[in-house]
Amino acid sequence: MSNISENTLVLLKPDTVLRKLCGEILSRFERKGLTLTALKMLKLTPEMAAEHYREHIGKPFYPDLVEFITSGPIVALVLTGPNAIKTVRTMMGPTNPVDAPPGTIRGDYATVMSNNIVHGSDSLTSAQREIAIYFTDQEMF
Ligand code: TYD
Ligand code: MG
Repeated sequence: MSNISENTLVLLKPDTVLRKLCGEILSRFERKGLTLTALKMLKLTPEMAAEHYREHIGKPFYPDLVEFITSGPIVALVLTGPNAIKTVRTMMGPTNPVDAPPGTIRGDYATVMSNNIVHGSDSLTSAQREIAIYFTDQEMF
């Protein structure tokens, strides 16, 4: 843990857009004190989805994961602050919403693993790799 600022990539997944929860989820991150450094709405191509989720290629859930994440528009964010990566992961809760305690995003808004509302980078290395999929330096403020 340190006071050095870091960037993390967050996706508000297609279910979040569909359920009109983008404002609510973004609000939580802002209230926590994270700074919004970049934001865009886009629909992932299968190629971008493969790049984003490349660690999962070949796993049984991968085809459904790509189908879901490319099924509609998403909102991509870069959030910035001390310990931003870990903070976002803690706020999201565990991958399976069934295990996510109330008070976490997945615990409050989701019931099934495939539609779990939000993505957040899991390490500094992933954050740097993932941010570059979505944003150029000019798009980060
Ligand atoms: P993962 O990177 O393990 O979780 P997280 O999003 O918490 O970093 O998995 C990526 C996404 O894949 C996850 O958010 C939901 C989906 N997924 C499944 O549908 N089934 C599974 O068994 C796993 C592990 C993930
Ligand atoms: Mg992950």
